[in-house]
Amino acid sequence: MKTLIVYYSNSGNTKKAAEALAVELGAELAEIREDRPRKGLSGFLRSGFEAATKKATRIRPLGAKPEDFERTIVASPVWAGHLSSPVRAFLCDQGTHIAEFGVLLTHAAPSAKNDYPTVVAEAEKLIGKKSVFTRSVVGPFSMKK
Ligand SMILES: Cc1cc2nc3c(=O)[nH]c(=O)nc-3n(C[C@H](O)[C@H](O)[C@H](O)COP(=O)(O)O)c2cc1C
Repeated sequence: MKTLIVYYSNSGNTKKAAEALAVELGAELAEIREDRPRKGLSGFLRSGFEAATKKATRIRPLGAKPEDFERTIVASPVWAGHLSSPVRAFLCDQGTHIAEFGVLLTHAAPSAKNDYPTVVAEAEKLIGKKSVFTRSVVGPFSMKK
């Protein structure tokens, strides 16, 4: 199945998880980029605030089109128990062009009891589609310096 993995990663965990999944599924990768960096404590606080208030930030145009793929998997870090704002922005912009939909999350809290189904539900609600592929990966907590 022709699959696109669209990821946002600030400190590298989601990038690694997305790259590993791309190898596993034979998928193409596209990175969501922003003009404004998220560094240090101010970047951390802004990220948490944007996620908690469900803000969609300004992102650069993506290098791939979801309409060219049978399945699009979005990969996002969990921020403050929510979807990251850059991934929210991508889904708001491009969600209607997604055929089959999947979600890959990375987060720092151990996943045994908490793999953030609420965050998957946020993504599903944004585009009005159920995720047919859901995975969550626990990574180290890191803040970009
Ligand atoms: C602003 C912010 C909020 C976070 N909130 C959570 C959280 O609610 N739950 C959690 O398990 N991890 C949380 N984390 C940890 C990240 O989800 C985790 O480190 C993720 O893998 C980072 O992905 P990245 O390296 O691709 O940016 C948070 C990290 C940041 C920067």
